[in-house]
Amino acid sequence: MKHLDTSSSKTGTPVVVLCAAGTGIQMAQSVSTVPGLRFAGFLDDEPEKQKDGYHTHPVLGTLSFWRELSQKTLFISSLYSPKKNPSCFQVIRSLEIPESRWATIVDADAIVSSMAVLGTGCYVGPGAVIEPLVRLGKNCAVYGNVYIAHHSELGEYVLCANSVSIAGCVSIGSVSYIGANSTIREYTKIGSRAIIGMGSVVIQNVQNGQIVAGNPARPMRERSTSDNI
Ligand SMILES: CC(C)(COP(=O)(O)OP(=O)(O)OC[C@H]1O[C@@H](n2cnc3c(N)ncnc32)[C@H](O)[C@@H]1OP(=O)(O)O)[C@@H](O)C(=O)NCCC(=O)NCCS
Repeated sequence: MKHLDTSSSKTGTPVVVLCAAGTGIQMAQSVSTVPGLRFAGFLDDEPEKQKDGYHTHPVLGTLSFWRELSQKTLFISSLYSPKKNPSCFQVIRSLEIPESRWATIVDADAIVSSMAVLGTGCYVGPGAVIEPLVRLGKNCAVYGNVYIAHHSELGEYVLCANSVSIAGCVSIGSVSYIGANSTIREYTKIGSRAIIGMGSVVIQNVQNGQIVAGNPARPMRERSTSDNI
């Protein structure tokens, strides 16, 4: 695995990670494994907290600073959260970053079928496997060691945390959050804005905005209506 180098390299297309949280550092690391790209820093709405950089990686400004960066700079979002994913999505959407400025980052240690389709702004972490005929909508994040089997479809801004396993022909609606180590049975339909608790085994369909957890996964509650988008 390559080490993150933010120092002197000026070659390659610059990629800026939106939100300097822990996952953002991993995304920056993945950027540095992709030939032709270089990590150029973070944008974060609390840059004062990272005055000297985030773990020494530069924070260039707030999220809205993206407009000031050169036209060739590309972006990837690391702003995801189980309970706040709808508002994370709204923050990112409100930036109005044009489609052509989103990077699609596939870590060098991931395996993505040439017959899969990834939307712009998607992230695929180390050790992830994406089988043929999978479709990911825009700005999905697939963390390390996730497995997504054939014919599965994810909407926009879906997060699959580390080691999620999605069987074939599953569909997941936009802005849903699939917690770490969860397993989703084949042909299951998960609605939009759903949350799957970490370690769940999902064997039944999940409605829009529903929060489920456990083995087998059972409904815990609904998201509040203020999360409707
Ligand atoms: C599902 C989730 C969002 C619920 O969060 P929450 O609303 O704060 O829930 P609480 O911690 O208050 O727990 C409420 C109840 O649900 C249970 N519960 C919470 N998460 C659970 C899970 N994943 N599986 C089974 N039960 C769970 C708790 O034990 C508790 O039960 P009790 O009322 O009988 O005591 C959260 O637990 C979760 O799984 N988040 C995803 C984390 C993740 O994957 N992170 C990845 C980072 S890379």
